[in-house]
Amino acid sequence: MRRGAVLASLLAVAPAPGAAFYFPGVAPTSYRTGDNVTLNVNHLTPADSQSDPKLRSVFSFDYYHPPFHFCKPDGGPEYIRESLGSILFGDRIQTSPFHLRMGVNETCKSLCDAQTFTGRDAVFVNSRIYQGYDLNWLIDGLPAAQQLTEEGTDTPFYSPGFSLGEVDGENPQFNNHYDIWIDYHEASPGAYRVVGVLVDPFSLQDSRNLGEGRAECGAISSPVVLDENDDSVVTFTYSVMWRLSPTPFATRWDKYLHVYDPKIHWFSLVNSAVIVVFLIGMVSTILVRTLRKDIARYNRLDQLALDDFGENGAVEDGVQDDSGWKLVHGDVFRPPKNPLLLAVLLGNGSQLFMMVGLTIAFALLGFLSPSNRGALGTVVIIFYTLFGFVGGYVSSRIYKFFHGEAWKLCFFYTPVALPSIIFAIFFLLNLFVWGRGASGAVPFTTMLIMVIIWFIISVPLSLAGSWIGFKQPVIETPVRTNQIPRQIPPSGSHLRPIPSMALAGVLPFGAIFVELYFIMNSIWFSKIYYMFGFLFICYGLMIATSAAVTVLMIYFLLLAENYHWQWRSFFTAGASAFYVFLSALLYWAKDITFLSWTSGVVYLGYSALLSLLFFIVTGTIGFFASWLFTMRIYKSIKVD
Ligand SMILES: *[C@@H]1O[C@H](CO)[C@@H](O)[C@H](O)[C@H]1NC(C)=O
Ligand SMILES: *[C@@H]1O[C@H](CO)[C@@H](O)[C@H](O)[C@H]1NC(C)=O
Repeated sequence: MRRGAVLASLLAVAPAPGAAFYFPGVAPTSYRTGDNVTLNVNHLTPADSQSDPKLRSVFSFDYYHPPFHFCKPDGGPEYIRESLGSILFGDRIQTSPFHLRMGVNETCKSLCDAQTFTGRDAVFVNSRIYQGYDLNWLIDGLPAAQQLTEEGTDTPFYSPGFSLGEVDGENPQFNNHYDIWIDYHEASPGAYRVVGVLVDPFSLQDSRNLGEGRAECGAISSPVVLDENDDSVVTFTYSVMWRLSPTPFATRWDKYLHVYDPKIHWFSLVNSAVIVVFLIGMVSTILVRTLRKDIARYNRLDQLALDDFGENGAVEDGVQDDSGWKLVHGDVFRPPKNPLLLAVLLGNGSQLFMMVGLTIAFALLGFLSPSNRGALGTVVIIFYTLFGFVGGYVSSRIYKFFHGEAWKLCFFYTPVALPSIIFAIFFLLNLFVWGRGASGAVPFTTMLIMVIIWFIISVPLSLAGSWIGFKQPVIETPVRTNQIPRQIPPSGSHLRPIPSMALAGVLPFGAIFVELYFIMNSIWFSKIYYMFGFLFICYGLMIATSAAVTVLMIYFLLLAENYHWQWRSFFTAGASAFYVFLSALLYWAKDITFLSWTSGVVYLGYSALLSLLFFIVTGTIGFFASWLFTMRIYKSIKVD
């Protein structure tokens, strides 16, 4: 059975990049009729309603946040142990008072004594209803969902989460009754598994608690409207319906992982593939044809010059022809300004680059499916920590290549500078979330754990990497650097930094923006993102585009006899981060209407952080592509 799943997931990788895969290690739980099935509750998250798909808040709330008055289990709720990644991504899973028994239908059970909402609580809850908050429950690891139908194709699918309340005209109606529909599958005679959970919430004003778990449910015609000026009494009730389902356990997530519009992904993929092919065609034409011509000419001129020199002691047309990138051979490997900063950025960029690539590859192989809660976050942290080694190694080798002297600073800044900036931004934004009393804030202990992991594992690994890089011989340049820097002639407008970067940066962004849009959607609307097949290809295309466009720019730069290519290549490719931030702003304008300025601050803060990381990764790609390029072309010419 288990081996079958592995095989199936391996086979599934090949044909469709959008398909869903399963982590083979998640073992199914079998229940007999009448066994208790636990229902756990997670935080409340802002969501979009189908009628008005706009995001109104970025904060999530603890399920047992007092104003909600949700019923607690006897003895108080307890936290369920979670992975680090799961906590970082906002999950706060706790126990609940629901009693579900496998295969046993129940109608209208009460959850706890009637709850009294004060006017202040009502104001709070009503405003959360206006903001479209969703409840998130988990039964046997499956999220409780609402069934939606895709427009156009009429395919039904499960959308995790169900609404706290509905706004009907003017009045916010608070849901206090839940119809829980559980699909179960008979795996073997007498052994059942949960394969789907739907919840239909209702607002029933006239429900009454009859004691001992029984209740009388009211009519749908009179909903609960919490009074903002007076106390309101609410009785929470639920019903459970078990339905036999033909869906086996192995494919139970399929209904949840619905691809909204696969055409869009394919369209963007083809689109960026065309751009990449075009670009690579252009670059290879230049590199292969022009360069070969250049090199042949340079070398012929050399020969000619020698011969001429031998015969009549003068070079005839050498001066006029000897133009272009060859002229700067004595300066092209002159260390850039601020070599330390560039080396540290490149080290961190390589670390992030490896982390992202490997995480996407892991996800593609099905190890990070949503059935394995928090696995994505955990893997990101683990890879980032381990690749500290790569970061240290790269930064110290590059620093040595730049003839850097301040060794200790390079060792120190590589593992400290960027993580401190990330952490500081993260911490500040968390203060805002704390200030709002929302639960989305990462707990202090989790932050402490992250700092400890970073200090105990990542820093030593980075130092070890730096040390090993430091011990390596310095990378040889193919041409010697002159003592005196050459004057740079004034160049045309197309080489001015800002326009050329603006032009170059848009291409790598073009390769990734559709996937970026879906990732943003999944982050802010707490949706599941799993289109890692597409993401993997897009990441590849983005790397190719960044590299190609930067090499092209650097070629033009060198032709104009400007040899300051190091920072230029970093910024040229990194400029795409500017577009990432711009797209976050556009996304705000289009899909978001925040009702509080703190939401806006948190949104902008995380967008800026994302753009910063994107800048460093693409900049690193651009630099290394140009580095290989310059090393290669200057190796092929003869310099006397
Ligand atoms: C199932 O739940 C009921 C009600 O909470 C409890 O009394 C019973 O002991 C539970 N059974 C098992 C096997 O845990
Ligand atoms: C539970 O109720 C649903 C809906 O009424 C029905 O389809 C299902 O067969 C019932 N299940 C059991 C085990 O009685």
